[in-house]
Amino acid sequence: MFIVIEGIDGTGKSTQAARLAEWLREQGREVVLDFEPTRGPHGMKLRESFTAGRLPAEEELALFLADREEHVAQVIAPSLAVGKVVILDRYYFSNMAYQGAIGFDPQEIRRRNEAFAPVPDLLFILDLDTDTALARIGGRGDETNEFEKREDLERCRGIFLSLQNEPFVRVIDASRSMDDVQEQLRRAVPAV
Ligand code: TYD
Repeated sequence: MFIVIEGIDGTGKSTQAARLAEWLREQGREVVLDFEPTRGPHGMKLRESFTAGRLPAEEELALFLADREEHVAQVIAPSLAVGKVVILDRYYFSNMAYQGAIGFDPQEIRRRNEAFAPVPDLLFILDLDTDTALARIGGRGDETNEFEKREDLERCRGIFLSLQNEPFVRVIDASRSMDDVQEQLRRAVPAV
């Protein structure tokens, strides 16, 4: 089983992913809990780009794709092949949302990813309004940056929500308590 958790920054993805993994392990399932961008060479270049100054958007997009292709080949596909549960904190839907928000075509990004990346069995979209999300991550830069960030995140949220009618997608209200959100995730995961 392949489970992906997505949402804009501040929605609680990593906490929820960790708790879901723990719950499944308690049931005796073998779980691989992972995230993107990875800590591989491409992922590290991306992290550097976020902190030390952004690379051109085209270059970042190519790095996200290369990072994911490696992740699929080295971790995701082999784990699924031996029957493990794979839980990912971010996947190619973040690629659609974040690179889509800065002007790339989300559908084109989706096609480029699905050429090599398996579609998950379950995609949880933790949905939260942008103001609450920004307040949670405490992002208080200068006003222009804040404004741009809010607009980008607003577009990201919209792209995530555009996936809501796909059969494998569950939109979860992330304004609820951590426990409530976790409860909803658990209820959506099929028993073995
Ligand atoms: P992440 O490591 O989840 O950062 P954080 O823990 O601070 O939320 O992701 C880093 C950033 O990378 C995040 O802002 C979203 C972005 N991102 C993309 O732009 N495209 C992608 O394909 C992925 C996977 C992430």
